Amino acid sequence: MRFRTAALLAFIAALAVSANAALPPSARALSGAFLMGAYPGSPEGKAAQNQAKAAAPSSQATDSGQYVGATVCQGCHDELYKGFEASPHWMTTQETKMTHGAHGCESCHGPGSAHVEGGGDKTKIFTFKEAKSEDITKRCLSCHEANPEQREFMRSTHNENGISCTSCHSVHHSKQEYLLVKKQTALCFSCHAEQRADFQKPFHHRVEEGLIRCSDCHNAHGTLAVRQLRSTPDQDMVCFKCHSDKRGPFVFEHEPVKVEGCTACHFPHGSTNPRMLTSARTNSLCLQCHAATAAIGHTQNTRIQQCIDCHSSIHGSNLSNVFFK
Ligand code: HEC
Ligand code: HEC
Ligand code: HEC
Ligand code: HEC
Ligand code: HEC
Ligand code: HEC
Ligand code: HEC
Ligand code: HEC
Ligand code: HEC
Ligand code: HEC
Repeated sequence: MRFRTAALLAFIAALAVSANAALPPSARALSGAFLMGAYPGSPEGKAAQNQAKAAAPSSQATDSGQYVGATVCQGCHDELYKGFEASPHWMTTQETKMTHGAHGCESCHGPGSAHVEGGGDKTKIFTFKEAKSEDITKRCLSCHEANPEQREFMRSTHNENGISCTSCHSVHHSKQEYLLVKKQTALCFSCHAEQRADFQKPFHHRVEEGLIRCSDCHNAHGTLAVRQLRSTPDQDMVCFKCHSDKRGPFVFEHEPVKVEGCTACHFPHGSTNPRMLTSARTNSLCLQCHAATAAIGHTQNTRIQQCIDCHSSIHGSNLSNVFFK
């Protein structure tokens, strides 16, 4: 019932807007709002006041005209409105620091008066479908760049490759958490088939099994690190978040762990080698860097044994300078 009344009011308001086309824009917007029962001080009234002064987040050819308020849109787009009302973006109808204005639908689509006057003329409103990815992203970031998670998006590899917010998020039609177009792992694999193959190797981080997620190590919105990798709060390697025992500091550090990092010896996604090592045999891994030193002071016999049988604390030690324990 509430919806029907609102739709009716919206329709009247839409008519009012076109009837008032000759009035100055601010008067037009206000009269539309008053018709809907808003008064200065009510949320709608505030919205109406904002219509007079607010500039759209990023100005486009389609960003002309006045804000009419979400309930006017509801008049003709009731299904979308209901979804919107139940989604986090309902918050865009509220005046907050993040939303800079309370324009609801129009905070993304731009002022809608011309579109409404044209009886739904879609050349008179910003539609995301045909938009360039940079224009889409700019719109979303006008609110979301305040969020630390999305702050680095402009410099991300994704952005540089023309991936936009709507490649991964569906504002109106998502049934997933965070408005994703698909569940995260499936989403990432839809473009990253090569990485999917890595995670299917015999030794792998259990991402497909749901134990950990791509976003534990990467931020799809970009980071200050390479490969869109996350780092721990003290700017250290992403791996320490879960493998804190490898973090040290140790009295005797194994230099490559500190300098080159974990990927000097491990593949991060998966490998055909046990422990996701980069070499099938541990000894050949060690000998890549220690061919000369291992020969000195080791008998022929010890060289055949597994290096890590003796040098077992390979990630660093507090007791032995050659990592025996
Ligand atoms: C008077 C009825 C009416 C009102 C009010 C109205 N629209 Fe529309 N809108 C339509 C119609 C009809 C279409 C479909 C146009 C077409 O497909 O050619 C449309 C299309 C759109 C599209 C483009 C869809 C596409 O396929 O690309 C967007 C975006 C849109 N409307 C947003 C809004 C917003 C935001 C508001 C509120 C400011 C609003 N509309 C208010 C009738 C309306
Ligand atoms: C947070 C930004 C945002 C808000 C708020 C928003 N939209 Fe959209 N809208 C989009 C995007 C992005 C698309 C492109 C399709 C998609 O990604 O889901 C879209 C698509 C549309 C379409 C095209 C048809 C369709 O189903 O995709 C219409 C019509 C539309 N929006 C109307 C509205 C109306 C009416 C409201 C308010 C009730 C609204 N939008 C609020 C971002 C937004
Ligand atoms: C007018 C400001 C504004 C614009 C523009 C905007 N958003 Fe939002 N967005 C919000 C607010 C407010 C919330 C809810 C509060 C929050 O999560 O911080 C939100 C939440 C979200 C969420 C989190 C949903 C959840 O379940 O936690 C996603 C994802 C999102 N927006 C994506 C987008 C995308 C994609 C666009 C561009 C098409 C966009 N937003 C444009 C204000 C905006
Ligand atoms: C390559 C895919 C991808 C792109 C592109 C993308 N996102 Fe996301 N987004 C995600 C994933 C995955 C999550 C869930 C993150 C998690 O689980 O930590 C998410 C979460 C979010 C959230 C809610 C959670 C949070 O921590 O903030 C918001 C808001 C959001 N994205 C906004 C945006 C905006 C705005 C853009 C464009 C500037 C964008 N996203 C581009 C994949 C993407
Ligand atoms: C719509 C397609 C698409 C989706 C979905 C997608 N990506 Fe990407 N991603 C790309 C493209 C294109 C590149 C750049 C070329 C490349 O490295 O393959 C890229 C690059 C990357 C890179 C390499 C960054 C660098 O600096 O080299 C990482 C990491 C990444 N994506 C992670 C993810 C994660 C995690 C998800 C899921 C949340 C995801 N991607 C979803 C298209 C996508
Ligand atoms: C355990 C942490 C971790 C997880 C989980 C993870 N990655 Fe990575 N990923 C990395 C690291 C570390 C690199 C950098 C490798 C390098 O530069 O040698 C990387 C690199 C990449 C790259 C760049 C190309 C390449 O293969 O080196 C892409 C693309 C990528 N990851 C996508 C994904 C996707 C998609 C997921 C989820 C299915 C995912 N990653 C899960 C740690 C992880
Ligand atoms: C989100 C938590 C998380 C992060 C971040 C993480 N790991 Fe892991 N890692 C695990 C879990 C859980 C296991 C246990 C393996 C299993 O049972 O799937 C594991 C196992 C391993 C193993 C042993 C695999 C085996 O075959 O025994 C190695 C090596 C490893 N991780 C290296 C890394 C490296 C390198 C990084 C950083 C690129 C990293 N991990 C980041 C959770 C994580
Ligand atoms: C110099 C090579 C090298 C580097 C660098 C290295 N590892 Fe390892 N790692 C190994 C070897 C060799 C094994 C196998 C030890 C065994 O089988 O007993 C191993 C085993 C592991 C295991 C599984 C067994 C265990 O001890 O828990 C994890 C987890 C692991 N490494 C994580 C990491 C992380 C995290 C980093 C980065 C901080 C890292 N590794 C850096 C060589 C290395
Ligand atoms: C990526 C190169 C690299 C790999 C792989 C590597 N190391 Fe090292 N390791 C070094 C460097 C660099 C040092 C610092 C001392 C040096 O210059 O020899 C070092 C130090 C050591 C030391 C202490 C010796 C000393 O002089 O302080 C031992 C013991 C050692 N490594 C054993 C191993 C074993 C066993 C493996 C295989 C599991 C291995 N390393 C793999 C680069 C590597
Ligand atoms: C049977 C036990 C044993 C095995 C197996 C073993 N080592 Fe050693 N390693 C030692 C001993 C003992 C030392 C000398 C320790 C000292 O000087 O206090 C040593 C010293 C080293 C040093 C430091 C040499 C220097 O001169 O500073 C390196 C590097 C090293 N080993 C690498 C390796 C590599 C690589 C392998 C596998 C190919 C390996 N070790 C296998 C026992 C072993």
